[in-house]
Amino acid sequence: MTTTEGFQVSLDAAEQYEARFVPAIFAEWAPLLADIAGVRAGQSVLDVACGTGIVARTVAPRVTGTGRVVGVDLNDGMLAVARRVAPDLEWRQGDVTALPFVDGSFDAVLCQMALMFFPDRTAALREMARVGRPGGVVALTVPASLDAQPAYGPFVEMAVRVAGAEALSLLNTYWACGDLRELLNTVTGAGLAVTEIRTHAGTARFDSPDELALTEVEASPLAARLTREQYGAIRSGARKVLAPFTGPDGTLAAPLHGHLVAARVPSP
Ligand SMILES: C[S@@+](CC[C@H](N)C(=O)[O-])C[C@H]1O[C@@H](n2cnc3c(N)ncnc32)[C@H](O)[C@@H]1O
Repeated sequence: MTTTEGFQVSLDAAEQYEARFVPAIFAEWAPLLADIAGVRAGQSVLDVACGTGIVARTVAPRVTGTGRVVGVDLNDGMLAVARRVAPDLEWRQGDVTALPFVDGSFDAVLCQMALMFFPDRTAALREMARVGRPGGVVALTVPASLDAQPAYGPFVEMAVRVAGAEALSLLNTYWACGDLRELLNTVTGAGLAVTEIRTHAGTARFDSPDELALTEVEASPLAARLTREQYGAIRSGARKVLAPFTGPDGTLAAPLHGHLVAARVPSP
C-alpha cells in the first residue's frame, strides 16, 4: 500500500482545519481512541501525525500529574496551530518513519485519521511500535472504505467528476485503509498483536452542505488544486448529493464510518 498524498497544508489551511474540520469531525473520534488505548493517569502518550492536536488535547486531562503528552507531525503549519491552541503541551516536528524519540518512550502511541497518508504504512507502524514500551499500546483510527460511506460516497463521486485526477488522488486516499481485513494484516505485519477492534458510526456535522464542501477544500491540500469554477461546482453539487442528510433547518448530519484498532507492542 503506497500513497503520494501526505496531507501537507499551508498555515492558513491548518487554521481552517482547526476551526472547521476538528469540531465537525475529528473531535468526536479522539475520546474513542483514548478509550480503546486505555489511556490513564500517569501514562506517557504520543499523538502521531497530531495535526492541530485534537488527540493530544483530549488525552492530556486523562494522564494528569506525572503523565506526559507529546504531539508530533511533519507539517509546520499544523504544529504552529497546535502550539497556539495548547501552548502547555509538548509539540515536535518529525516524520513517522523516523520519530525523534528513543525506544520504549511511551505507554501509548496514538494515531488518528493519518495512517492512509503514510507512504510506507508497515514501516510507520513499526516505528510507532519502536517508540512504544514493550507491553504498551499502539492505537489507530481510520475512515472505513468509501463504499461503506452513504454520504461521503456520493460526495466524493461528484467531486471527482467535477475536478478529475487532481481531486481523485487525495479523495481516494482518505479511504485507503478502510478495508478492515487489510488493515489488520498491515498492523500484524508490523509485528503488533491486535487486542481490540471497533467500527464506529460517527456523524460529520456542518451548518450546511456548502460548509462541508468549503471545509473539504479550504482545510485540505485541495485548496491549491481547484479552479474557481470547479470549487463552485463542488459546492452546488454538495447541496444536491447531500440533500438526504440535510435537515429542515439546513444543517447537515453526514454519517462517517471508521475503524479503531488497538494493538500490543511486543517485547524485543
Ligand atoms: C487528516 S490529518 C489528521 C490530523 C490529526 N491526527 C487529527 O485527528 O486531526 C493528517 C496529518 O498527518 C500528517 N502527516 C502526513 N504524513 C506524515 C508523516 N510522514 N509523518 C508525520 N505526520 C504526517 C499531516 O501533516 C496531517 O497533519
